[in-house]
Amino acid sequence: MNSPSSYKNLRLFSKPIAFKCLVLVGIALFYKALFLSSSPRNLLSIRASDSSSTYGVRTDKFLEAPQIVWGLNNQKIAFARACLTARTMNRTLLMPSLSASLFYKEVDKLLPIPFDKVFQFERFNSLCNGFVRLARFSDVRNRTQVFDLEKGSGRRWTVERDLDQLKQSVSVDEFEVINVKGKNPFLWHDHWPVKDYAKVFECMVVVDEISREADKVVTRIRQAGGDRIIMEGLVPFVAVHMRIEIDWMIHCKKLEQRQKVSEICSSKREIMERVGNISGLKTPTVLYLAVADSLLEEKEGESSVLAGWREGLIPFEKKKLGVKEEVYGKYSYLIQSAIDYEVCLRADVFVGNSFSTFSSLIVLGRTQKLRRLGVVSSCDDGGNVWRSYAYNLAGESEGVPRRWMTNMTHSSLEAISYGSNTVSCSSE
Ligand SMILES: *[C@@H]1O[C@H](CO)[C@@H](O)[C@H](O)[C@H]1NC(C)=O
Ligand SMILES: *[C@@H]1O[C@H](CO)[C@@H](O)[C@H](O)[C@H]1NC(C)=O
Ligand SMILES: *[C@@H]1O[C@H](CO)[C@@H](O)[C@H](O)[C@H]1NC(C)=O
Ligand SMILES: *[C@@H]1O[C@H](CO)[C@@H](O)[C@H](O)[C@H]1NC(C)=O
Repeated sequence: MNSPSSYKNLRLFSKPIAFKCLVLVGIALFYKALFLSSSPRNLLSIRASDSSSTYGVRTDKFLEAPQIVWGLNNQKIAFARACLTARTMNRTLLMPSLSASLFYKEVDKLLPIPFDKVFQFERFNSLCNGFVRLARFSDVRNRTQVFDLEKGSGRRWTVERDLDQLKQSVSVDEFEVINVKGKNPFLWHDHWPVKDYAKVFECMVVVDEISREADKVVTRIRQAGGDRIIMEGLVPFVAVHMRIEIDWMIHCKKLEQRQKVSEICSSKREIMERVGNISGLKTPTVLYLAVADSLLEEKEGESSVLAGWREGLIPFEKKKLGVKEEVYGKYSYLIQSAIDYEVCLRADVFVGNSFSTFSSLIVLGRTQKLRRLGVVSSCDDGGNVWRSYAYNLAGESEGVPRRWMTNMTHSSLEAISYGSNTVSCSSE
């Protein structure tokens, strides 16, 4: 990075402006020579003279990212990755569009939905103040000059090259807007530790409407035991993110073959046995089964996921709770997932699959809640609130699920975005 020849890695020019860029590279080299003596390591710290910034992220330079797609969990990770990319460039991220639907092959069906229809915009900036920052497109003063930064692809576009490109984007720093072209941010290379992602996720607070709908579902779950569960105060509940639908079963079998591990898929029977063996559950206990809609439509009347639980566990899903039409039915796929996420986050006990991104993000959220209370490990059973388990992994014996906290010291998000079987009861 210290020799001019390394600029050949800066393959980010769209052809018509290639000449202009050569000039810019020249300018950058000049500045580099000028300032390098005072800050030899970090090219990004060149802008000491920039006046227009609050402390932390500059407010007059922007990064634009492509529309964010796929499931809620992938979209959250993609959004956080775009934020962290902007942070690396010391730029404000222009609020990207999320996608309300799950169609990812048919681009015309992607249904863009503004970020602030799902998450609180002002709240995000106040919680993340000094770390990352979001702006609206109307905050850009002059959109006539946007620099297109093309992400490379293929096997030769390594993590190192990608990071080099980010660092060298300082050479086009005078552009008010840098627009990252190409793949959706979920597929960008990852350069940041779990802690940084966790910080961004913490600033993503759902809008009041979604939060109220989640409250409604949680209230309905706690009431569900009805007169069968009579307790003082709140009735605890267990949320189980059950992945047993056909699509998942095909996916996880393939994954097991490819990764040569046998602990990814769990049958309905295995999930029921392990959940049934969780120690310390007072019975009767209400179970909330977060399952794919396809499983609810299997049969007339009660869906089959409700049958076969051990005595004392009273299972409900959206349909039996009466919230399928009344709550979820009003919303797009993305909002429905966001409600489910909130419900699982609030459960007293959560049980999920460690190879599911959705489960992994819920456990990360719960781990953060625990860490805020000062609980960094649940191995000694000290952390008995907000317990989480992975039903696809055996705990202290074959018939019980493994205690699960997110390891916050990981240097990348890979374990969370692609799943892992090395989860443990400690967050460090
Ligand atoms: C971003 O730039 C501002 C102003 O130049 C500076 O104060 C701040 O430390 C920079 N932030 C990062 C993360 O480099
Ligand atoms: C925006 O920038 C372009 C190119 O630098 C310039 O020609 C144009 O006058 C600017 N527009 C405004 C409204 O400042
Ligand atoms: C788990 O539950 C099953 C019955 O569902 C029982 O046969 C088994 O012994 C239990 N295992 C443990 C370790 O408690
Ligand atoms: C957490 O991750 C770090 C780094 O990958 C590793 O050294 C450590 O052993 C892990 N801790 C647990 C409890 O798995």
